[in-house]
Amino acid sequence: MTTALTLSGSIRKGSYNRLLQHHVGGKLEAAGVRVTALELGDFEMPIFNEDLEADHLPESAVRLAELWRTHDIIFIATPEYNGSMPPLLVNTLAWLSRQKPSVFRHAIFGIGGVSSGKYGTIFAQSHLRDSLSKVGALVVPTLLGIGPAEQALDAEGNPTEPAIIRKVDAIVHELTHFSRG
Ligand SMILES: Cc1cc2nc3c(=O)[nH]c(=O)nc-3n(C[C@H](O)[C@H](O)[C@H](O)COP(=O)(O)O)c2cc1C
Repeated sequence: MTTALTLSGSIRKGSYNRLLQHHVGGKLEAAGVRVTALELGDFEMPIFNEDLEADHLPESAVRLAELWRTHDIIFIATPEYNGSMPPLLVNTLAWLSRQKPSVFRHAIFGIGGVSSGKYGTIFAQSHLRDSLSKVGALVVPTLLGIGPAEQALDAEGNPTEPAIIRKVDAIVHELTHFSRG
């Protein structure tokens, strides 16, 4: 059975990106995928510093890396902070990128994001896609940018706009049909 990990780059209570994470996870399950929904808050890591690598590689980074290596699909919902990725995601990617074998070369990656602004995290997603591509990840083409959050999602986190609903279907289709060969 195809497996997926979903995660949100925001761990705040009431995070819109967590709502998107679970919405996409539900759609993947409906497509026959076994989904593991991660909370990055369960994988605490210090701010990355090369000096820490030799003796203080966080156990949570090792655990997370193994999960990334053993799932077929990874969906990341990213917030946008100051036109870029939030520090939680940058830090997580830094720790993951230093581990061998690569955590980026197995799964198919999908990215999306919700922001309070009308551009719907397009800047953050652009940075995230570039960064993932740089380290060897295969990222599907549909980018799921959603905003402003209060209008674009209902109280349960379901997208309200037909164009976004179609994009969710498109990214789920791509995630379940792309392959690294
Ligand atoms: C430090 C900071 C920077 C932000 N920068 C942006 C931004 O550049 N663009 C944007 O659309 N929203 C920005 N926001 C607003 C976020 O889109 C909003 O807080 C959103 O709800 C965060 O995602 P979350 O609900 O998953 O935590 C920023 C918020 C914070 C706290």
